[in-house]
Amino acid sequence: MATTLESQPAAVQSVKRSMGHLALHYGKVEDGPVASRLLQVFGMVETQVLNLPSGSNFYRFVVDSDHLSRGDGIIYLSMLPEPQRALVDAIHTALKIGTPDQHEAVTAYNAMLESDPEGSFHFGFLMDSLEDLERMVLHLRELNESDPQLKGRLAITMNRARAGEAAVDARLDASPIFGDCKRYAYGRNGVQVFVTTDIVTSGQLGDRMYFEFDYVFPGYDSHILSVVES
Ligand SMILES: [Fe+2]
Repeated sequence: MATTLESQPAAVQSVKRSMGHLALHYGKVEDGPVASRLLQVFGMVETQVLNLPSGSNFYRFVVDSDHLSRGDGIIYLSMLPEPQRALVDAIHTALKIGTPDQHEAVTAYNAMLESDPEGSFHFGFLMDSLEDLERMVLHLRELNESDPQLKGRLAITMNRARAGEAAVDARLDASPIFGDCKRYAYGRNGVQVFVTTDIVTSGQLGDRMYFEFDYVFPGYDSHILSVVES
């Protein structure tokens, strides 16, 4: 039976919670400033840079300026600790990743994520402006084309809203990024953008991170983040 709010003890219901923080890692010292820059392109606000004795930087970001001194909406960014880096290296060696003898499970894993980034460990942001999301994607495409630090290190995939709502469909048909998109979200009245990068490391193979950026059209009770459809 599904757990509902009403079925939970009163003490649990009365506690206020919010999403507090996420700890991300980059893989190499030189990727620290690049990762920080990418998070700022995503709209995150850098509030602290702490240079550590190792030579790497520890960063604190908030998702927007409303969270500057709060305890939630925080993203910490630091270099992958050495034992984790050693584990990732061992996994890559054992599974012969990137070689002609790569383990078939790795190939299948990569194919799954290629077809549906939603299957990855990922972090989703909600944006309140479709125009801002469109501008960000166009900027990221430019950076991936020609920026000295970011060139070739980003992959962008999008899902437009399921068809059927005339106003939403018309707006997306006219969009500079969704107009030619043939992929569809698991729901209505909203869109998703996935950005994959090797600048931030996570996931089972410790070699990439998937970021998701969503927009929900206002005025609809049923949308991509309220109801998941098969
Ligand atoms: Fe997601």
